[in-house]
Amino acid sequence: TAYETILVERKGRVALVTLNRPKALNALNLQVMNEVVEATEALDRDPDVGCIVLTGSAKAFAAGADIKEMQPQGYMDMYLNDWFTAWDRLGALRTPTLAAVSGYALGGGCELAMLCDILLASDTAVFGQPEIKLGVIPGIGGSQRLTRAVGKAKAMELCLTGRTMDATEAERAGLVSRIVPADDLLAEALSVAETVAGMSAPVAMMAKEAVNRAFETTLAEGVRFERRVFHAVFAVADQKEGMAAFVEKRKPDFKHR
Ligand code: HXC
Repeated sequence: TAYETILVERKGRVALVTLNRPKALNALNLQVMNEVVEATEALDRDPDVGCIVLTGSAKAFAAGADIKEMQPQGYMDMYLNDWFTAWDRLGALRTPTLAAVSGYALGGGCELAMLCDILLASDTAVFGQPEIKLGVIPGIGGSQRLTRAVGKAKAMELCLTGRTMDATEAERAGLVSRIVPADDLLAEALSVAETVAGMSAPVAMMAKEAVNRAFETTLAEGVRFERRVFHAVFAVADQKEGMAAFVEKRKPDFKHR
């Protein structure tokens, strides 16, 4: 498929999706949304893809939803078009996703990064939910996911003042797993993705599903869910291979089944 606002590349079992709307700092208009969702869903269906990396440019992961596109819309336009709801499909992918964030990740850009499973930031990354400065509020899950990631105190401050966080603050607050020097970000992201993609794909999907359950349910129900899935992995051939490889002191050769 020919996309106009993103680039899609394959590197072994890793897929790299690069937001490519440099003139607007990767502002997320409906075309970007549709292309990202369509491309990642196609990659998700591909058994030869074990991890999807989403990145932007050095200057901007994404500077937010497209303000110029939203400006003239009224409530009925937003409601009838169910504006931004397609982004939810990114969070529903089964393949692990990794956001490699350099530069601005503001508003919808921050929300897009938070829709991914692993979040790596370069030392130049800037995160925030500045919607309030435009007279709106986050619309792609920011008020919920930021709060779960960094807690109420910081989420409230960011959403109510629109101030941004640098990478150090974002890491300290638990929004990102690690900070990488900007020049190394892509290589490091691809390396982490290759590690993930080298694991048994169904087991990685189950691990992702189990972690995500923590955001949806009580501790007792979450642990119960984990236990059921943990028992179920003993029906995966890769469990036999992984444990046999350990015992035989060799590397596992996962078949993703
Ligand atoms: C549309 C955008 C944009 C955006 C930048 N551009 N962000 N266009 N939507 N979110 C465009 C600019 O208009 C400009 O186009 C070009 O990209 C370069 O941006 P500059 O502002 O000239 O760059 P710079 O001076 O370096 O400033 C970078 C910036 C600033 C600090 C990131 O662009 C900025 O504040 N952007 C908006 C950030 C924001 O508020 N994001 C949240 C959006 S609301 P031209 O044609 O002039 O060169 C949101 C809501 C989600 O995400 C759901 C709620 C409804």
